[in-house]
Amino acid sequence: AAGAAAPGHGSGPAVVAHRGASGHAPENTLAAVDAAAELEVEWVEVDVQRAGDGELVVIHDNDLARTTDAPERYPDRAPWTLTDFSAAEIAELDAGSWYGPEFAGERVPTLGQVLDRMAAHGQKLLLEVKSPELYPGIEADIVAALREHGWLSPRTLRSALVVQSFDAASVRTLHELAPRVRTGLLGNPPVAELRRHAQYVDQINPRHTAATAEYVAAIQELRGAHGRRLQVNVWTVNDGPTAFALAGLGVDGIITDHPDVVRAALSSG
Ligand code: G3P
Ligand code: CA
Repeated sequence: AAGAAAPGHGSGPAVVAHRGASGHAPENTLAAVDAAAELEVEWVEVDVQRAGDGELVVIHDNDLARTTDAPERYPDRAPWTLTDFSAAEIAELDAGSWYGPEFAGERVPTLGQVLDRMAAHGQKLLLEVKSPELYPGIEADIVAALREHGWLSPRTLRSALVVQSFDAASVRTLHELAPRVRTGLLGNPPVAELRRHAQYVDQINPRHTAATAEYVAAIQELRGAHGRRLQVNVWTVNDGPTAFALAGLGVDGIITDHPDVVRAALSSG
C-alpha cells in the first residue's frame, strides 16, 4: 500500500483516496477525508503547500482560483497565488461551493487539521509535497507538523505514513531530515536511474499509463531506503477495468478519486 502497501490482507493493491475521496466531496478538504473514512478506504492522499505567513495548508493548485471563492471575495488580488494570502485569510474562504451547494462553507484545511482528523479516523496518510521549489524549507516545516501532531510514532512510521513528491531533491531533503519517514518519488524515472533513487525512497509512484509490466517489475526487484522491496503506487485510476488490469501487474497501491469503483473492480476477480 502506499506504504506498507500492505494491501490489507495480502490480497491485492491497497486503495488510496486521491485528494481525499475527491469523487465524493471537494478535494483536499476535511469533507473529503471524512468521505474516505465513510468508504473505509485504507489510505488517503492529500497535497500540502505553504501560505504567505508560513502556515502549511492542504490544497492542490498553487493558487486559490479553482477551488475557493477567493476570486469573488478578492477581485483585485488575481491570480490569487497562495503565498499572497495569510492562513487567516485562507481559512475564511469557501472551498466547497464550487463542488456542490451541500459543501458550502467547507474550508481549505491546515495540514495540522488534516493530520488530527485522519488520526481520529485511524487513516493512513500519503502526503504529497506539492511544488516544493516554491517553498524553501517546507520539508522541515512538514516534519515539525508531523511531530507536533503525533504522526512520528514507531507504529505510524512503520505502516501509516508515506511522504511523496515529484521533486526528487525535496524527497531527498525530507529523507535526510527525517530518515525514519518512508518516502515516495512521483513520476516515472528511467529504469537505469531507479537504483539511485532507491537510496532515499521506498516507493516509485508513476502515472498509471507508465506502469507497464516491465516497469513495475523493474521497480519491485529493488530494495528501498528502509530495506524493503520498493513499492509502486499508480495514479489516478478511476475506472474498474484499468484498476483490475493494474492489480494484475502486481502494483502495491491504486490512487483513485473513486475508491468504491476501484474496490469493486478488485474484488470482482
Ligand atoms: O498521488 C499522485 C497524484 O496526486 C499526483 O498528481 O496532480 O493529483 O497531485 P496530482
Ligand atoms: Ca497529489
